[in-house]
Order: sequence, then C-alpha cells, then structure tokens
Amino acid sequence: MSQEQWTAVDRYIAGHLVPSDPVLEAALQASEAAGLPAINVAPNQGKLLQLLAQSIGARNILEIGTLGAYSTIWLARAGLADRVELRLGPALDTLSKLAQEGVGPFDLTFIDADKEHNSDYFRWAIKLSRRGSLIIVDNVVREGGVIDASRHDSHIQGVRDFYEFVAAEPRVSITAVQTVGSKGHDGFAIALVIVDP
Ligand code: DHB
Ligand code: MG
Repeated sequence: MSQEQWTAVDRYIAGHLVPSDPVLEAALQASEAAGLPAINVAPNQGKLLQLLAQSIGARNILEIGTLGAYSTIWLARAGLADRVELRLGPALDTLSKLAQEGVGPFDLTFIDADKEHNSDYFRWAIKLSRRGSLIIVDNVVREGGVIDASRHDSHIQGVRDFYEFVAAEPRVSITAVQTVGSKGHDGFAIALVIVDP
C-alpha cells in the first residue's frame, strides 16, 4: 500500500463515518492561512479522540499542543465546547502553573506538542490525572523512525525517551498502536492511570 492508497481509504472512511463540518473546515483553513503545518490529526482520528472522551464522560480535558485547534474542537465537542480555555506559552511552564493553581484532575489528556518533551509532558499529565484518567500521546511511531538506529534527531529521541519512561511507569497501563492514513505511517499511545497519583 502506498500513501496514495492510505489517503484514499481515509477519504472513504471519513466519507462514510466522519462528515466534515464548517467549523472544523474553517479551523483547517485558518491554520493554512496562518502558515501552520498541516500536521493536525486526521478527521477519523479526531473523531476517535471525541469518542474516547465521550465514552469516559470526560468533563475536564487537557490538551498539550493545540496548533490550529482542530483536535481541540473534536475534544471540546464531547460536551465542553462552551468552556474552552487556551493558555499560550511553553507548555512546561503552563503545566507547572496549572499544578500550582490546583487545576484538575483531568479526565483525559491529549499530548500532541513538540516531541522532545514528550516524557516531561507525560509526567505532568500523570500528576494532573486521577485514577481512571486517560492519557493519549500522538505520533509515537513516526514512519518507524522510532526503531531506525540511524535517526538521532531530538524529536525521534523524544519519542524513544517517552517509551523508556512509560515502560517503567507503574502508575499507568499503556499500549501503542501503529496507524496509516492521510497523515502517513504513525501511531498513538493510550494510557490508563491505574492509581491515584
Ligand atoms: C509532526 C507533529 C505532529 O504532532 C504530527 O501529528 C505530525 C507531524 C511533526 O512535528 O512533524
Ligand atoms: Mg500530532
């Protein structure tokens, strides 16, 4: 299978199951107009995030890395669209402030920011969780870059560090799944927080 076929199948899936709507389309257009890279989640993945949030009855969601808010809209439409709060700035600073403010616990955290800090973000996500919270991490495969020994760039290393960290983290039960589609070959991890952090 080629990228072209993966994209066509994603189009088929979305055509049947994930109707596009003007607000999501407008977010993508605004992202493009602002010169943001087209690295938003695919529509069927956005819907998956929404289904996961709805299935756990999430009332409080943390997204680390928002880009043009495409995934934010999917998550907010899990019944929270009237109360989105955006905090702009280096996420590690924001996370530390959230903890100081006693914000949370969050029912679901979606980590989709710079990959270099993935394990730090994950550490914060656990801190800001409760037993039963979900933590989802995007881009944990990167076209297999994660196992490519010739890749030493910081963004791939950040993903590897994340695996090392979570493999030894007893507070979560976690898996990762490879995906192909309109955004290429990648994957996501889903963790369930199994103790009160
Ligand atoms: C990149 C980042 C993402 O979050 C993503 O979903 C795809 C690509 C990137 O930095 O290249
Ligand atoms: Mg991503």
